[in-house]
Parts: sequence; structure tokens; C-alpha cells
Amino acid sequence: MVHSVRGVIARSNGAPVEMETVLVPDPGPGEALVAIQACGVCHTDLHYREGAINDDFPFLLGHEAAGVVEAVGSGVEEVAPGDFVIINWRAVCGQCRSCARGRSQYCFATHNAQQPMTLVDGTELSPALGIGAFVEKTLVAAGQATKVSPEASAAAAGLLGCGVMAGLGAAMNTGGVGRGDSVAVFGCGGVGDAAIEGARLAGASTIIAVDIDDRKLEWARQFGATHTVNSRETDPVEAIKELTGGHGVDVAIEAIGLPETYRQCFEARDLAGTVVLVGVPNPTATIELPFIEVFGRGGALKSSWYGDCLPSRDFPMLIDLYLQGRLNLDGFVSETIALDEVEEAFHKMERGEVLRSVVVMD
Ligand code: APR
Ligand code: ZN
Ligand code: ZN
Repeated sequence: MVHSVRGVIARSNGAPVEMETVLVPDPGPGEALVAIQACGVCHTDLHYREGAINDDFPFLLGHEAAGVVEAVGSGVEEVAPGDFVIINWRAVCGQCRSCARGRSQYCFATHNAQQPMTLVDGTELSPALGIGAFVEKTLVAAGQATKVSPEASAAAAGLLGCGVMAGLGAAMNTGGVGRGDSVAVFGCGGVGDAAIEGARLAGASTIIAVDIDDRKLEWARQFGATHTVNSRETDPVEAIKELTGGHGVDVAIEAIGLPETYRQCFEARDLAGTVVLVGVPNPTATIELPFIEVFGRGGALKSSWYGDCLPSRDFPMLIDLYLQGRLNLDGFVSETIALDEVEEAFHKMERGEVLRSVVVMD
């Protein structure tokens, strides 16, 4: 059976998104059909629409989603119809050289659905991040659907599927933040605020939020920043040193993707500290650092891919913490919108008015 559903498509470079009828096949071997309940609007969707990821138009946008499994194909054991799931873009293969060494959080050969979703005229859609979830039903590899407690709100849970997981994991997984650590987070959008939340949850005792927008710094405080620095007005490196007895922070997290702020992270870090890059740089950007300092300061310069998460390990645990009131996921949901309001949500995102607009299905 083919499911005829409504979805949000980016048809050509820079053109506003369109609502279209999408044809979704029944799940084949290893696949799951998921009825989407909620899906957040992420910068990456906008980057697809602007042709900044690749040229494989038309795209089926959306990838930060939660929903209910409607059907599974043969051989699927990890989920069953009726399960409440968060969709992930790291369905680990179990066989690549990284998985073989027990490092599945970096899997180099992740799975997506094999069958294409199409427009009515048969045109194949490229699903954003191998998902495509601004649509009533989507087809994914079964490993892309991670079962979590159905008590969680779908709008909040879906955000773990991308940006919020990236930020939480940048602090908790990549940065290895622990009790009593001092942490600075540069850039307080959805990803940076999630890094602040992750640092708080991991027991950091000093959490310094850096941004150029006072409104963002105010939100950062609500997530647990103990100090804020407006880096348009104040040198952030000096300010961070002052707040840490002259030393700098144990972990500095860059959640913007700019060479300038990466360098500030590098300089605002204590000896033997860790820099984590979770912001995604422009492909043409380069950085220059004093080489002797790279050696002399010691520690680690790390990058965080999707918060180095292992969905099967991290999603159920984080949802449990959310349900216990220890992880503020609801705070990332700035507004809920309908499926036909994604274009408007892109503009709000560009104006910096929201952490996340979340599409909730009728
Ligand atoms: N110094 C400090 N803060 C800055 C600077 C700067 N030079 N430039 C921008 N910012 C702040 C913005 O004011 C904003 O609050 O960085 C924040 C970026 O947040 P968003 O644009 O909302 O982006 P977000 O969704 O959080 O993603 C951040 O992570 O996953 C990646 O692709 C994503 O690179 C992006 C980054
Ligand atoms: Zn693998
Ligand atoms: Zn995303």
C-alpha cells in the first residue's frame, strides 16, 4: 500500500517551501513507517532549502521529530507498531571500522530507508538528513526510530533528534563535563542553550554563557547559566578569566561555527582544558592559532558530531530525566505551529526570535 500524505518540500534553490502530496511506501525489510506527531524547525532545513548542503532538489524537509510507529517491515525487532519513538540520524551499522571497535557513537555507515518517498508524478524526494519529517508519515530505517517513554510530549521529545541532542552531548559526551567543572558556552541559540543545560545536568558549578544578544543571554540564564557575557560589549576571554580566578574554564564549547569564537574558546580555556566545537563552520572558513600555544596549553581540541550521541543509549535516558523534571526540554519549544507555517518559522529563526518553532500535527 502507498500512503498519500501532506509534506513540506523545498523544490529549488532559495524558493519558499511548498506543501505537497507525498507518496510513502509501506515499510520494506528493515524499515519502519512512522506517523509524525511533532517536528522542530532547524537551521539545517533552511540550509537545504538554500542549496547549502547539496543540489539534490526536491528535498523533503524536517528531521527533529517524534511520532508513533505505524508499521514495520520484515526482520525489524527493535520497534513495533504503537511504539512512541524519536527519529535519529545515527542508525548504527554495527559493522563499520568504528562500530567494530565499540565506538558506535561515531558510526561511519549509518542506515537510512532504502525505498524512496516521491511526489505524485514519481519524482524522488531527498529526505533532509536521511529522514524527512515535515510530513504526516515518513519512512525510515528501523534503527532510526528510538523507542522512548510515551509519557513525554512529542514536541519536546522530537527536539532530542537533532539540535538539542547536539548541545547536550557536546557538554555531556564530547566535553565530558563533570561535577565542579567550569564551562563556557559561546552562542546561546538552541544548541548552545542545550550545552548549558547539559553542563548543568552533569554537575558543572560555573556555567558562563557568551552571546552578542542580551535576549539570548536572558534565556541562557533560564537554562542554568550562572554568569553571562555580552561579547559585543565585553572581551569574553578577559571576562571568563576574571570569573574563574584568572585561569579560564575547564571546558569551552563553541556553538556558533565561527573562527573568531573558536579562537576565543581556545584562549578562554584553562591549562589542560577541553575545547568542543559543535557549531558547524562555513565550508570556506579557516583558522589560525599560535602553534606553541596548541602545545603549551595541553588538553584537547575536540569536535562534536551530533553530540557524539548513541541514540539507543542517550534518548531513553534523557527522556527519563525530562519526565523526572531534571532536564528542561519544554524550554526549547518557543512556539508550536502547523505544517503549513514552516516558511514563516524560517524567517523567525533568521531574526533570532525563537529557540525552536515546532510543527505539531493536527
Ligand atoms: N559571538 C557570540 N555569539 C554569537 C556570535 C558571535 N560572534 N555570532 C552569533 N552569535 C550567537 C547568536 O546571537 C545566537 O544566539 O550565536 C547564537 C547562534 O544560535 P542560532 O543561530 O539559534 O543557532 P543554533 O540552532 O543554536 O545552532 C548553532 O550549531 O548545529 C550547529 O548549524 C548549527 O552552526 C549552528 C550552531
Ligand atoms: Zn557503523
Ligand atoms: Zn537539525
